[in-house]
Amino acid sequence: MSIHISLLLLILLAISTLSISSYAFSIREATIQDLKLAFKQNQLTSRQLVEFYIGEIHRLNPVLNGVIEVNPDALYQADKVDYERKAKAPRSLLGLHGIPILLKDNIATKDKLNTTAGSFALLGSVVPRDAGVVMKLRKAGAIVLGKASLSEWAAFRSLNAPNAFSARGGQGRNPYVLSANPCGSSSGSAISVAANMVAVSLGTETDGSILCPSNFNSVVGIKPTVGLTSRAGVIPVSPRQDTIGPICRTVADAVHVLDAIAGFDHNDPATKEASKYIPYGGYIQFLKPYGLKGKRLGIVRNPFLKYAKGSALAQYEHHLRTLRQEGAVLVDHLEIANIDVILNVTVSGEAAALLAEFKLALNAYLYELVDSPVRSLAEIIAFNNKFSELEKIEEFGQDIFLLAQATNGIGNTEKAALLNLAKLSRDGFEKVMMENSLDALVTPGAGIAPVLAIGGFPGISVPAGFTDQGVPFGFSFGGLKGTETKLIEIAYGFEQTTMIRMPPSFKP
Ligand SMILES: *[C@@H]1O[C@H](CO)[C@@H](O)[C@H](O)[C@H]1NC(C)=O
Ligand SMILES: *[C@@H]1O[C@H](CO)[C@@H](O)[C@H](O)[C@H]1NC(C)=O
Repeated sequence: MSIHISLLLLILLAISTLSISSYAFSIREATIQDLKLAFKQNQLTSRQLVEFYIGEIHRLNPVLNGVIEVNPDALYQADKVDYERKAKAPRSLLGLHGIPILLKDNIATKDKLNTTAGSFALLGSVVPRDAGVVMKLRKAGAIVLGKASLSEWAAFRSLNAPNAFSARGGQGRNPYVLSANPCGSSSGSAISVAANMVAVSLGTETDGSILCPSNFNSVVGIKPTVGLTSRAGVIPVSPRQDTIGPICRTVADAVHVLDAIAGFDHNDPATKEASKYIPYGGYIQFLKPYGLKGKRLGIVRNPFLKYAKGSALAQYEHHLRTLRQEGAVLVDHLEIANIDVILNVTVSGEAAALLAEFKLALNAYLYELVDSPVRSLAEIIAFNNKFSELEKIEEFGQDIFLLAQATNGIGNTEKAALLNLAKLSRDGFEKVMMENSLDALVTPGAGIAPVLAIGGFPGISVPAGFTDQGVPFGFSFGGLKGTETKLIEIAYGFEQTTMIRMPPSFKP
């Protein structure tokens, strides 16, 4: 009888925590630092960790749809790192040794996983090699747990497709309020870490795709300066705006991942120029307890406070007071010149530039594949027409694809658009930052994303509260190129004084 009761207890425990040695170490909500300590103290193995996450994926993913594929080799990789740790191999001291990571499904892996941007058109395609960031993750000892769902084609197929929907991944759901928008396009990455289906994840951003889902799922997203992280082997939208970054539950976790993935990759020329921004000793040293002290933070109320309502607005004002109390200098009521133009992709020229850049970059990606059912944007469009039911083409369309296909390289229209975008950044964001000697702009939500996107500027999103309905929102801190060190100090300072995030409640 007592055996049965303790068995039952063990099973119950196993549902929420993994009981290993003398006391139960809880994997749920554990940070990278917690996990590494548990490894060191022999309270946890990577195999147990991976088994826990696979169990959680089986339990939660049928509702949340944050994960498209689980790596069939994840347990094998876990055993390998467990062996290395036991043998005290030098590798076991690496930054992400034994830590499982989920990759957005547009980030290529040369293994049993598919890389499809959520589309059936790329199912069965064979990539030439791991993406640059994946090579670095593997070198740092991380375990690739699987691929995260996303808004299909990083939300670049159609204006009418819902956030977090892909034909292969289904409809991703917000773990806080299941009927609420999880945002996108790195939806699955944000959903999965929020719901503890994995320790950490990678997303990608062209315009808002890391910052927005991080906001809506109460997680931390870092959108690095364009070129700080390699885009090689990532299904592209625009080499001018695309960037790869971590989505995690805490600033410290995100910074650990950033340290692993930032840096030069000969397959992405932009990483050469941007690697000058990487500080000696990496980014972890900027997780400082008094990071807000003396930081100059700009506040742009028009139009970003339009997105904050009711208690969210009150929480925003409250947080501004907190930032001040922590020693930040707030410069309020600033304006970004031409902000209405910047936020209108048609008028700014962003749409024209992205459409042409997408066709060129995507066709180049497809050309490099070792094998693929489709070799051009034109063939993807034809695939979608042929399998329109599978891809929900009648319902959601592929209007952006059609507009992109109609472009013909970087012509006069695109050149004018590119010049205009550069001018908008110079006269707008760069000017307001420099004239006021700001370290960052702080805005509620991810409305600032286009301002950062068109100039390749970095941003960090940190959980900042919940609406009356229980839907999370965050603060976005945006800065000039290469200022990740300062943004990390600010984001960490804000996170540590506010500690807003809590595990999701799965409200209907
Ligand atoms: C990748 O796609 C193929 C179908 O082409 C499927 O058989 C396989 O299971 C997929 N891989 C994983 C890891 O799900
Ligand atoms: C962008 O500007 C155009 C032209 O002025 C206008 O027709 C369109 O409605 C605007 N779009 C948005 C989203 O405001």
